[in-house]
Amino acid sequence: MRKPKVYVTRKLPERGLRMISERFEAEVWPVYPPPSKNVIINKVVEVDALVSLLSDKIDAEIFDAASNLRIVSQFAVGFDNIDLNEATKRGIYVTNTPGVLTETTADYAWALLMAVARKVVEGDKYVRTGKWKVGWHPTMLQGRDVYGATLGIIGLGRIGSAIARRAKGFDMKVLYHDMVRRQDLETKLDLKYIELEDLLQTSDFVTLNVPLLKSTYHLINERRLRLMKKTAILINNARGPVIDEDALYKALKEKRIAGAGLDVFEQEPTPSDNPLLTLENVVVAPHISSASFETRSRMAEIVAENLIAFFDGEIPPNLLNKEVVNAQKPGLS
Ligand code: GLV
Repeated sequence: MRKPKVYVTRKLPERGLRMISERFEAEVWPVYPPPSKNVIINKVVEVDALVSLLSDKIDAEIFDAASNLRIVSQFAVGFDNIDLNEATKRGIYVTNTPGVLTETTADYAWALLMAVARKVVEGDKYVRTGKWKVGWHPTMLQGRDVYGATLGIIGLGRIGSAIARRAKGFDMKVLYHDMVRRQDLETKLDLKYIELEDLLQTSDFVTLNVPLLKSTYHLINERRLRLMKKTAILINNARGPVIDEDALYKALKEKRIAGAGLDVFEQEPTPSDNPLLTLENVVVAPHISSASFETRSRMAEIVAENLIAFFDGEIPPNLLNKEVVNAQKPGLS
């Protein structure tokens, strides 16, 4: 039987890539910047499978060009870049890499939270740029206490829950809001369910842990930012468009909230003239919350495992659009 053909839109960590190359006839986009949409369209014409990144827009245009495409294996947990309905209509399987990046991403939310609250980045710049002229001063670079504060988690999925677990070590009061109530976790992690508006009004720290959906686009807007405490800090390492960045800039500039930690932006890479980058009370990062060697390597293996299971005729472990199974059997057609 012929080897299935796979197009991989970026060089993945080694082990996963090796698993793919050993088993399939694989072609990998060779350079660091992403392939254009036209390149992907040209490549998918011939392949049975596509490995995508969250920055590749995989939509009807791509699927229309891809007459043999049977599966898209995404190297990410989020999949808002993929038009899942269009894939399902065509019987194309779509998989992602959940679970493995939960703890690493929760760690990074904490890194941002601590960095903003305790002015870690500002302190670093203060020393390096020669602003540190007085050895010690009672009012130098004062931040906000994390220990004992109230944390509001918006979206109590895997990552939100992992953030909540960490909060216990800081003796925080933890509130959450989600579409579904998780009474099991409320008891286990000592969490309190609360309406979104109330969460915003009462939390010292707010973390966003929702996927990007129509219903979560600009969830944090001007009106909701106005509900937050003047001393509050907002953390987003979910997806950029969950926050209206213009409204956030105004809230921070006018000191209606105290700070923000952002690993994600409405546009990525964010333009260097994004006004948010001019603010001292903002810590930014280039969408790297899951970027540890261990996690990225495991994500690449999961991408490979999903493909291998599919072409072995099995339902891939991380199938997102389960409806396709009735329409198409896994494997080469
Ligand atoms: C990263 O943002 C991911 O969705 O995996």
